[in-house]
Amino acid sequence: MVKIAIIQYSTYGHITLLSKEILKGIKFNQNSNLHQVDIFQIPETLSDDVLTLINAPVKPNDIPLITLEKLVEYDAFIFGISTRFGTLPTQWSNFWDSTGDLWINGSLHGKPVGLFVSTGTLGGGQEITIRNSLSYLIHHGLIYIPLGYKPVFNELTDLSTVHGGSPWGSGTLAGGDGSRFPNELELKIAFKQGEDFIKRIAKFYSLDKQENEIVKENKIVKENDIIKSKEREIIKSNNEKTKNACCIVMYLANSVISV
Ligand SMILES: Cc1cc2nc3c(=O)[nH]c(=O)nc-3n(C[C@H](O)[C@H](O)[C@H](O)COP(=O)(O)O)c2cc1C
Repeated sequence: MVKIAIIQYSTYGHITLLSKEILKGIKFNQNSNLHQVDIFQIPETLSDDVLTLINAPVKPNDIPLITLEKLVEYDAFIFGISTRFGTLPTQWSNFWDSTGDLWINGSLHGKPVGLFVSTGTLGGGQEITIRNSLSYLIHHGLIYIPLGYKPVFNELTDLSTVHGGSPWGSGTLAGGDGSRFPNELELKIAFKQGEDFIKRIAKFYSLDKQENEIVKENKIVKENDIIKSKEREIIKSNNEKTKNACCIVMYLANSVISV
């Protein structure tokens, strides 16, 4: 069983919408015995007054906050980042700054990571925000899994509509005033990022081998069940035969007595 955490910071909900789509993509067509996927949010650093001033809605209460204890329990991550000045928001860098102990102990070393973003505008940091995040990944020894073009070639090269997302990871454009929300194409790219990520994680953690083991185990259990039910049938039929034989013996005995 591989545990995947989608960890995100979102002020207005754009990143949260992409997170949910990525989660759907991960779960699509996958054996749920082999993976678990959960969404977490990065703790807020702004005061309630500031959040009110910038018209930020209340954070969703169905998405738990990530903690360092929780973080280390997971085998793979997808980080959702809402751009600030072309780079990570304070909420994210504040969280990373609290991971010194994990960094010293190499607790995250070698775990794979996908990334996705939300920016206000095109050219506002779709790719560079992800590039700027790599420093944290590299220092922790985390392994960046880019989206690439292969799973989303048609979507990324579709210029019929404005959209975020790049080979670096899925993305959305919130607009200058935050009023634009992910369109169908951006949601599709996010879904496909999830779908592709779990396939690559499956190879990384040899889940295909584990799946074969489960199939084998299930086959053995089924075969054992068939053998047991055949044995039960044989025992039942033997019991019937014994019962019939007894009846015949008793009948003959009665006949002898009456003669
Ligand atoms: C202080 C601040 C700085 C920002 N800097 C940028 C920026 O450099 N480029 C950009 O495209 N959008 C920028 N934005 C817009 C945010 O990226 C946008 O609100 C965010 O992507 C919305 O996603 P969310 O609702 O998930 O937080 C900035 C917003 C704020 C509040």
